[in-house]
Order: sequence, then C-alpha cells, then structure tokens
Amino acid sequence: MTDAPCTLVILGASGDLTKRLLMPSLLNLQEEGHLPQQFKLIGMAKDAMTQEQFQNHLGECIGQFATRTFKPENWQRLLQATDYLSGDLTSPDDIRRLAKMLEGSPNVLFYLAVAPSLFGPIADQLAAVGLNSEEGGWRRLIVEKPFGHDLKSAQELNARLQAHWKESQLYRIDHYLGKETVQNILAFRFANGLFEPIWNRKYIDHVQLTVAETVGVETRGKFYDKTGALRDMVQNHMFQMLAYIAMDPPNTFRAQAIRDRKMELISAIHTLSPEEVRRWVVRGQYGPGDSLPGYRQEEYVDKNSVTETFVAAQFHIDNWRWAGVPFFLRTGKRLPKKTAVLSIHFLPAPSILWRDTPAHNLKPNELLFHIQPDQGVELSFEAKVPGPSMDLQTVTMRFSYEQAFEVGRGTGYETLLYDAIRGDETLFSRADVVEAGWAAIQPILDVWQAEPAGNFPNYSAGSWGPAEADTLIRETHREWLNP
Ligand SMILES: NC(=O)c1ccc[n+]([C@@H]2O[C@H](COP(=O)([O-])OP(=O)(O)OC[C@H]3O[C@@H](n4cnc5c(N)ncnc54)[C@H](OP(=O)(O)O)[C@@H]3O)[C@@H](O)[C@H]2O)c1
Repeated sequence: MTDAPCTLVILGASGDLTKRLLMPSLLNLQEEGHLPQQFKLIGMAKDAMTQEQFQNHLGECIGQFATRTFKPENWQRLLQATDYLSGDLTSPDDIRRLAKMLEGSPNVLFYLAVAPSLFGPIADQLAAVGLNSEEGGWRRLIVEKPFGHDLKSAQELNARLQAHWKESQLYRIDHYLGKETVQNILAFRFANGLFEPIWNRKYIDHVQLTVAETVGVETRGKFYDKTGALRDMVQNHMFQMLAYIAMDPPNTFRAQAIRDRKMELISAIHTLSPEEVRRWVVRGQYGPGDSLPGYRQEEYVDKNSVTETFVAAQFHIDNWRWAGVPFFLRTGKRLPKKTAVLSIHFLPAPSILWRDTPAHNLKPNELLFHIQPDQGVELSFEAKVPGPSMDLQTVTMRFSYEQAFEVGRGTGYETLLYDAIRGDETLFSRADVVEAGWAAIQPILDVWQAEPAGNFPNYSAGSWGPAEADTLIRETHREWLNP
C-alpha cells in the first residue's frame, strides 16, 4: 500500500451507497492492510448527527452489510479515523466549513455519493473554495453513475467538471470494472499466448453478452422509470465489458494505454441507422407473473410507462479485426436466472470428415466468461463418447475462481477505492470513452423517443424476454446461449 496519507471525504454519507457498499469495502481494505497508515474518513450529509451518532450508524450498517467476517480491532481502527460534518453540500458556507476541516490534509479523495443532479453543483462548490487545488498534495473526485442520460447531457457534465478539475483528477466509476472476473478478461487475453492469434473474424463467428436479473425494479422505480435498461446497463457496464473482450492489446499496462485502446474500440461501434435500430434492437417490458407485479404496477412507476426493462441488440464493430462479426448484447429484469456471461462462439470445424459418421452435427467451440454470480472461465469442445462407434459429445473444461483461489467475498468497490487512493485511473472511465458510449446508443434513444413502444408489456416474468429477441438472433442462424 502507498504510504502517502489520504483523507477520503464521502459527500452524501448518510445514503444507501455508503452503508451498503462503501463502508463494507473500506472495512475489507482495512482487513487486508490496504488502507494507508495515515487514513482519515470524513462523512458529510445534511442529517444533524454528531461524530458519535455517525459512528453508531456506521456500526449498524456494517452489522447488516459486511461481506465477510472481520477482526473487531480493524473496524475500531476505521471508526477512530472517522469524522462527520453535518451540512448542505450546495451551501458555500458549509463547504467552507469542510475546507477548514481539511486544513492539514495533503491528499484528499472526494466521493460524490449523491444524486447525479448534484455532481456538477457540488464539484463547482468544492472548486470555488479551492478544494480542487493540488498545491501541496493531490485532490481527486470520484463521480458515481449514471454519468449523463444521453450524449448531450454527458458532454455538458464533462464540460462542467473539466471547467475546474483536470481530467487526471476525475475518477468516473463503472463498478463493473471493479469485478475480478471483468479484469480477468484482460489477463486471459493478454497474459496467454494461446488465444490472441485466434481472437478475430477469421476464427470467431460471433460474441454474446447476457446480463440477466431475476428481480424486478424493486425500490428503484423512481430512478429506473426515467432511465431504462439501455441507459442503466448497455451504455456503461456492457460496453465496458465489450471493450475488454474486443479491444486491441495496449502497449503497456498503464492507464493511458488501456484507456486509449478502449476508446478506439468503443468509438468503432457501428452507428446504427434508424432502420438498423428497428431491425437490430429489441426492447421489452415485463408484465405481471405468478403473484408478482408487472413493471407498470411497481411502486413509483408510471401506470402507462414505456420504459424498457429488457434490451437485446446486435452491434457491429467497424474495424479490421471484427468486420462482419456480430456482437449480441442482452439484458433485462425478471428473467429466469441471475447471471452475467460473456461468450465467444468460434467458427465450426469443417464437417466434411464427419459426414458419414453419427457425429455429422459438430458443435462449434464456445469460450464462456462467467462474470457473476458464478465466477470462472469455461471452454467447450467435442470429445469422443467411449464405445465402438464415433459418437461425439460436447464437454467442458472449467476454471473456477472459488476453487483456484482463496477469495473473500467483496462488494466490487474495494479495488476501485484502492486504485483511486493510489492514483491509478485504469479502471475509471475517461471523458471521451463515456461520450463514445453515449454516441453509440444515441441513435437508439432517438428512434425510441420518436416511436414509443406500443406493445408493452411484452414478456412475462421468468421468460428470456420478448419473442422478438429470439427472432433477432435466429434471423442470423444463431441462437442465444441461455446459461
Ligand atoms: N445505492 C446504491 O446501491 C448505488 C449503486 C451504484 C451507484 N449509486 C449511485 O451513488 C449515488 C448515491 O446513491 P445513494 O443510493 O446512496 O443515494 P441516497 O441514498 O439518496 O443518498 C444520497 C445522500 O446524499 C445526501 N444529500 C443529498 N443532497 C444533499 C445536500 N444538498 N447536502 C447534503 N447531503 C445531501 C442525502 O441526504 P438526505 O437524505 O438527508 O437528503 C443522502 O445521504 C447516486 O449517484 C447513485 O446513482 C448507488
């Protein structure tokens, strides 16, 4: 761990993110000895709490949300380093009080754990009292998601933040990049000589990415009804995973090089014409199921909502490596299984040799990256079934994280906090990468806004989405992998 002191200021510290994810992550980092020796935590929110009341509140949160067993002395150590400031984050006077409290803290990491509408105003307030100045130490600002709600708003937010903060000070979170299994995609591709030579259109038929949830919108109706699956999942998390699976190798493992390759990839996503949006993008909304409410019956959701809870799409990447290779992305709520799986579908072996045998229907090899909740990699191939005739059967080789490594369960935010403290920007989204993601889905948003869905709800709870999603892939003579 870096020996440099660090003060982490959580702005919006009485909220859900802090209690469910940030505090358990900090505790896990403390347990593993990954927090600096001189670490301070300041929570700031409107609630009128004393330091002691805040610490008690955090104790309750940890009781409920800690992801692993921990040593009580590590929790005590974290608590002793914790302070609280009650104040309005948009009030210049209250931000000045924060600045006073930070006097003598050379390095400060601000975490915007507030609603997105406050990202710009709070960043401005911090800068107005000089808290963006790196004289005598570093200052960094972690910005939560969602980052904008379309291309224009993302560009405006970037411009507003960059007016007072250098890009190197801005850490835009995409928590999927904190997942070990997502980072392992880079290790798998670039630390093994075997796969990269076949990682292109000559050997790969197509790629699929499914991120499925069994739950509905739960308590997030207010946010979700203005957002939908395309903005909530595709533009950010799914494109980030797509970039890792498809980008060119960077020259070094430094942040700049990796982000440059990601930028190249995401900006090469084919811009869909309105006609392609209608043909290649399917939207869905779940209806009622066995004693489960439909989306329109959920709390805070408009009774006539046309917000999508499901998207399936075919994307293409306009570059030399991937010309002609479709990338099928699918995500949704109330699907049969909670899972996130990236699969590479290789071209089949020539079947000529097998035409007169019982094994004439060769199945192409598939390489699966299980992102969550299973964590591992799986390669399927054809094997001979024991016996006198040449029967083939698909078998799998599997690497499981759980079996290979001893890993304590985390929240996924540990690596991100650790990296932000160390100043490693690799896993955070750069301004141009975020905008490139929005640029790729903007044509879909435009068509959907002009042509609201007339057939919602169009899939039932527990199914794999609307029938059109199957048609989308079958028209290309392929099938969804339903893991
Ligand atoms: N919760 C999650 O699991 C999760 C996951 C991923 C990303 N995020 C993102 O993280 C951010 C925070 O989410 P959240 O769920 O923690 O929201 P939240 O529960 O609403 O918490 C927001 C916090 O900010 C405080 N706050 C709001 N306006 C303030 C002001 N003017 N001055 C001082 N404090 C103020 C709130 O205090 P009051 O209640 O007193 O106003 C509350 O403590 C959002 O951008 C969200 O999209 C959340």
